[in-house]
Amino acid sequence: MESKAAERIPTGIEGLDMLIEGGLLKRTTVALLGQPGAGKSIFCENFVWEGLKRNDYILYFVLDFPPWELARRMNRFHWDILPYKSEDPLKKRLYVVDAFSGSTDVPQQTFKEQLFVKNPSNLDEFFAVFDGLLQNVTSYASYDSVIRIVLDSVSPILSMTPDFSRVYRFLRRLVVRVNLVDNAVAIFTAHLGMHGKHIETSLKQLTGNTFLLVRRIDEGETRKFLRIEHLRETYHTNKMIPYAIADEGFVINPQALI
Ligand SMILES: Nc1ncnc2c1ncn2[C@@H]1O[C@H](COP(=O)(O)OP(=O)(O)OP(=O)(O)O)[C@@H](O)[C@H]1O
Ligand SMILES: [Mg+2]
Repeated sequence: MESKAAERIPTGIEGLDMLIEGGLLKRTTVALLGQPGAGKSIFCENFVWEGLKRNDYILYFVLDFPPWELARRMNRFHWDILPYKSEDPLKKRLYVVDAFSGSTDVPQQTFKEQLFVKNPSNLDEFFAVFDGLLQNVTSYASYDSVIRIVLDSVSPILSMTPDFSRVYRFLRRLVVRVNLVDNAVAIFTAHLGMHGKHIETSLKQLTGNTFLLVRRIDEGETRKFLRIEHLRETYHTNKMIPYAIADEGFVINPQALI
């Protein structure tokens, strides 16, 4: 039987992993909510880099910025993703999906990403790309390979689709799809304050796992905190967890809980 620790996938943010029994439970999706600039993407990049170091497979759906920026963004932390984007199937671990340019006037080819969602507002097409890629990767990854999935962020979809019930159904299909893969874990980010309260609550309900990034102004200084609002089957603190964005990425010092 697998040990309890093996059921969990470390986020790579060491201080956080110590506070959540070693990492995120397999077959789950986490909603990571925070205001613009809070550090959501850096959190995801940290999570992805941890996976690459562990030889995991990464499915990275980029919606918020041109996908060619990813390598540059991660290089700032000395995380070189290029070897993992290799076309050699034995080495390829990172699949970047351009779900950005289809909602702009910039031709997809400009970004040289082979994988893309042609029209990110077409949720059936989006789901088909997601499902197809996940199926593909699970078919040739070994049975114990971990698959990390990132959707950064779902906010453009929420903003471009007027009918929320369609988005709800789409996200629900994604969450269920992740749940069907033994060794998969997903992070969906969303911008706090961009959507109505009921949409934020729906995201939390759909995933069942929520990390909130919040800011507080104390004595004229902005302080950043992560709050674990809900994490299934996990003992976790309800305290505000201070975090920082530093040269090492997203950093948490568990001793500094308030
Ligand atoms: N090396 C670094 N040291 C300290 N802070 C950094 C560093 N690199 C980036 N930041 C800070 O991280 C923040 C951006 O993080 P990130 O891109 O993850 O935010 P986000 O929540 O994804 O926001 P959005 O998607 O709205 O742009 C910025 O406020 C920036 O000042
Ligand atoms: Mg971001």
